[in-house]
Amino acid sequence: MTTSSNPPNSVTPDQTSGMWGGRFSEATDAFVAEFTASVQFDQRFYKQDIAGSIAHATMLAKVGVLTEAERDDIIEGLNTIRSEIEAGTFEWRIDLEDVHMNIESRLTQRIGITGKKLHTGRSRNDQVATDIRLYLRDEIDDILKLLERLQKGLLGLAAKNVNAIMPGFTHLQTAQPVTFGHHLLAWFEMLIRDTERLQDCRKRVNRMPLGSAALAGTTYPIDRPYTAELLGFEAVSENSLDAVSDRDFAIEFNAAAALIMMHLSRMSEELILWASAQFKFVNIPDRFCTGSSIMPQKKNPDVPELIRGKSGRVFGDLISLLTLMKGQPLAYNKDNQEDKEPLFDAIDTVRGSLMAFADMIPALVPNIEIMREAALRGFSTATDLADYLVKKGVAFRDAHEIVGKAVALGVAEEKDLSELTLEQLQQFSDLITADVFDKALTLEASVNARDHIGGTSPKQVEAAIARAHTRLEQLYA
Ligand code: ARG
Repeated sequence: MTTSSNPPNSVTPDQTSGMWGGRFSEATDAFVAEFTASVQFDQRFYKQDIAGSIAHATMLAKVGVLTEAERDDIIEGLNTIRSEIEAGTFEWRIDLEDVHMNIESRLTQRIGITGKKLHTGRSRNDQVATDIRLYLRDEIDDILKLLERLQKGLLGLAAKNVNAIMPGFTHLQTAQPVTFGHHLLAWFEMLIRDTERLQDCRKRVNRMPLGSAALAGTTYPIDRPYTAELLGFEAVSENSLDAVSDRDFAIEFNAAAALIMMHLSRMSEELILWASAQFKFVNIPDRFCTGSSIMPQKKNPDVPELIRGKSGRVFGDLISLLTLMKGQPLAYNKDNQEDKEPLFDAIDTVRGSLMAFADMIPALVPNIEIMREAALRGFSTATDLADYLVKKGVAFRDAHEIVGKAVALGVAEEKDLSELTLEQLQQFSDLITADVFDKALTLEASVNARDHIGGTSPKQVEAAIARAHTRLEQLYA
């Protein structure tokens, strides 16, 4: 890094330092200028920066700090700059450090001295805090739409599989039969909580820091509620020091994003297992898979695998932001410039993963027969036989013992409980009668018997799907 008084690589004083260089006696070192710049990544929220500036200028004119003509010049200039950016003709300059100064500098270049008045009563500290909130608010709304699409896809697939029976697992060992629809509704519930979390987080994102200025507020007679209304903020921040400095809203978002990824990762893991030759429970359509360059038979479930992997980076993004914020004294510190990339990465990753899932779920083809055969293996109705005996007066622990012995016979004979004869079963308890097959041992009897809210019976799953549609309507109203 160059530190001599005549730095050869310095940017000229009329570049960045034109914005704040009054008290400096030498230009910024070129490496330092680049090292401290954020325009490479914060140009992403140019739209929000411009919207914030337009609202700010409108408010300044309302309270008489700018004339109406000045306001109109500023707004027109900013609108033109937005078009330039969108047309790809805007020249982003690293020497102008960030999105804010790039746009402001171009504004002054375009409209002259009036452009220099835009920053009255404002600081980049409250400006950037406002921009990120506006940006994140928009992204949350998009992510909520993706979640809704995925949730509807799950309900659609569940509705088609209300009666399909598969083994339910604990410890990844066959436990009890469940309906495939019920399993899908478990995924649905996870995602509903994710929606609730995002909606709740959005409330705290949607507060306006603008007006906090650098840290203490401003001497101009600003009308913050008016600016907030123009920008669609629910309320203004209550404390200027807090508003310019804390990034807890971004941390909250990243936590919600991490939970979404954790859920998608669990679903991915199940899809990967189910798509294997050992399970064959589902077929993931070819367009979501890739082959192997060496093994001609391979069809790899890349999309779920990648999403399972990508959950790791979003967890990392959460930890980055927590660590970034920890130990920062009030108010703004340059550390906060590092909030953007972990936030953007979490947003991008969650969006992409949800989009892939929302496309893939309705396209899944379950192999219902294979699921059913799997449910018939592993003694999945053993608990039902125990419950059957309990209903006939046997204490549960004794029933457990009796069924354990029946299972041992099944293991020895390589037969499911339902494939043992009545005589074979009766050697363990004479309370077992011919109705045992219909009442306990068949897969249908087992799932039908779990007939209460939250249970796996087809009837309950159907009712749960109907309720789920109503819940979605309420949630996204
Ligand atoms: N680029 C900066 C950031 O992202 C904007 C705020 C700069 N404020 C300051 N006092 N240097 O945090």
